[in-house]
Amino acid sequence: MQNTLLITGGAGFIGSNFILEWFNKELESATTIVNVDALTYAGNLMNLLELAHHPLYRFEHADICEAEKMSALFEQYQPRAVVHFAAETHVDRSIVGPEAFLRTNVQGTFTLLQAAMKYWKALPAADRGLFRFLHVSTDEVYGSLGPEDPPFSETTPFQPNSPYSASKAASDHFVRSYYHTYGLPTLTTNCSNNYGPYHFPEKLIPLMIANALDEKPLPIYGDGKNVRDWLYVKDHCSAIRRVLAEGIVGETYNIGGCNELTNLQVVHTLCNILNTLAPRKRGSYEELITFVKDRPGHDRRYAINATKIERELGWKPAETFETGIRKTVQWYLDNRTWTDKVRNGSYRQWEALNYGQRA
Ligand code: NAD
Ligand code: DAU
Repeated sequence: MQNTLLITGGAGFIGSNFILEWFNKELESATTIVNVDALTYAGNLMNLLELAHHPLYRFEHADICEAEKMSALFEQYQPRAVVHFAAETHVDRSIVGPEAFLRTNVQGTFTLLQAAMKYWKALPAADRGLFRFLHVSTDEVYGSLGPEDPPFSETTPFQPNSPYSASKAASDHFVRSYYHTYGLPTLTTNCSNNYGPYHFPEKLIPLMIANALDEKPLPIYGDGKNVRDWLYVKDHCSAIRRVLAEGIVGETYNIGGCNELTNLQVVHTLCNILNTLAPRKRGSYEELITFVKDRPGHDRRYAINATKIERELGWKPAETFETGIRKTVQWYLDNRTWTDKVRNGSYRQWEALNYGQRA
């Protein structure tokens, strides 16, 4: 076994932040990072340009659904751990086209588990105990909370409501079963909504920033009172590093920021920051807020109880929403070419399809 991490989906939002943070924070560990990514519309190697020639970084253009390729990568790199980010992740796309979610999130995770198992079983006994398969999942598997319900804990029953969350719940169950049935040393994390640099602008926060700067409507689904629990992406990455290093195999860990906000509160905050940092020629950004037709099956509220990871692994987020969101807006202001490049032809098609039907 080598001092190598096999990261799937490392060209996406959280995966690329994780890899960049790894090289910032863990330099002394001399770990090689192998990034396995199919480069779907959400994958972007521009995010990792600074690592292109780094001696400890490798990129493998591959689909996690390809069984032979996955096995070959395990054989070639002999990783000490897998950190599995690769997924289809946008709830609205899962409503329009659920098949891709079934394929990557369920079939892909299953394929990766099979390849990991084959590799792990052939390891020397001492290495078998050290190997880890860390599955990155979401709070959406728990369903939707009422206003007075306690936040999701690790024992909250799964009640997924969208094809996206159903596919993630299925993948979580497969991971759990590989620990209980075969003893594969798995770890699962269920995290709340992330925000920060390199967030694909189909999602609420980067979409609102990009639309505001383009003087386009800021589309709020329904009444805008749905609640999400926001966590700065680098805090999610530090939690994953902590679980990878110290998590108990077979366990799941909830990760969240204790930042429950309605969508309207988030968008007003963004408008306020933009009014100061990039004022419009006339008027304020709030004037662009537009209420549109709701998302079908729209979960009302998510909130995470993160006491287990705080108590058992000593993790805490470094950013509050106020500090994290300012950094995020500043990043998008400093990196407008990134957003412009990402919002290419296929993005425009998605935008027309999703928002056309909500007018
Ligand atoms: P993303 O959509 O930004 O990136 C997904 C990445 O996976 C892309 O690089 C894409 O090219 C790659 N990918 C997709 N299908 C693939 C396949 N078949 N084979 C190989 N690579 C493939 O996603 P994200 O927001 O960075 O989320 C990463 C993980 O974290 C996902 O598993 C998601 O469910 C989970 N998660 C996300 C959030 C959030 O707020 N974004 C919160 C909790 C958990
Ligand atoms: O909770 C974790 C999940 O968070 C992750 O597992 C998902 O991968 C990630 O996409 C995110 O899911 P959400 O559905 O919560 O995120 P999204 O950014 O799509 O939407 C956030 C909220 O904003 C939600 O209530 C819908 C609303 N919304 C979204 C968009 C894109 C709008 O009001 N208008 C919009 O245009």
